Amino acid sequence: MKWKRLLVIAMSAMMVFTLSACGGNETGSASGASSKAPQSKEASAGQSASSKASEPQGKQGKALVAYFSCTGNTKSLAETVAKALNADVYEIRPEKAYTAEDLNYNDESTRSTVEQKDDNARPALADKNANIAAYDTIVLAYPIWWGHAPRILDTFVESYDFSGKTIVPVCTSGGSDIGSSADYLKSHTKGTGSWKNGKLFSRNASESEIRDWLKGLGLQ
Ligand SMILES: Cc1cc2nc3c(=O)[nH]c(=O)nc-3n(C[C@H](O)[C@H](O)[C@H](O)COP(=O)(O)O)c2cc1C
Repeated sequence: MKWKRLLVIAMSAMMVFTLSACGGNETGSASGASSKAPQSKEASAGQSASSKASEPQGKQGKALVAYFSCTGNTKSLAETVAKALNADVYEIRPEKAYTAEDLNYNDESTRSTVEQKDDNARPALADKNANIAAYDTIVLAYPIWWGHAPRILDTFVESYDFSGKTIVPVCTSGGSDIGSSADYLKSHTKGTGSWKNGKLFSRNASESEIRDWLKGLGLQ
C-alpha cells in the first residue's frame, strides 16, 4: 500500500534512533540523544511511580502525567510536562517488556508491528496502580507507533474510569504528527473525560514551550 511505503520511507529518513528493550538498556532516541531506560524504582516494585505529591495548583487542579516510553524520548517529555504542571508521574509499563527486536518496525513479524496492525491487541499492563481517581487532569504521553499510540495505551485507557477528568494527550515521534492517535484513544474511553487537543513535542521541549501550550488550553 502506498501510505505504508511512504510511512516506512519517512520513518527511515526521519528516525535516527537506536532501538532498545522497553525498560531495558541505555538507548538512543529520535533526536540522537541518549537516555536511560524508563524504569523507576517505584515502577519496578509495581507501584505507582510518583515524582512528588502534587498539590492542586492553577486551573489544571491536581495533575498526573502517565507515560509509556521504550527509548526514553517520551519519558523525557513527560518529565518536563510534569514540571510545568507540578504533576505526579506514572509510568505505563507492559507486563512483558518490549525487546529491541520487538520494536523493529522494518520487520512485519515483530511484536510491535503485529500489535499495531491488530485493532484488538491489548498488551497486558505490569500493574494497574495509576490512581486516576485522585487527579483532575491526566496527561497521556506516548510515542507514535505506525501513526498511532502503542496498543498498550488502548489497554491503559480501557482499564480506568476517566469520568470528570481533563485528559491531555502529548506524544513524541520520529517525524509523524499526532494525527488521529488521540481521537482513537478517546474512542476507547466511551466519551468519558474532557479531552483537550493533543500535541506532538520533541523530547527536548522546554518547560516554557509546554507552559505556553498549556496556557492556550486554559490549564495554567
Ligand atoms: C514500532 C515503532 C513504530 C514507530 N512508528 C512511527 C511512526 O509511524 N511515525 C514516526 O514518526 N515515528 C515512529 N516511530 C518512532 C517513535 O515514535 C519515536 O522514536 C518516539 O520518540 C519513541 O519514543 P520513546 O523513546 O519514548 O519510546 C516508531 C517507533 C517504533 C519503535
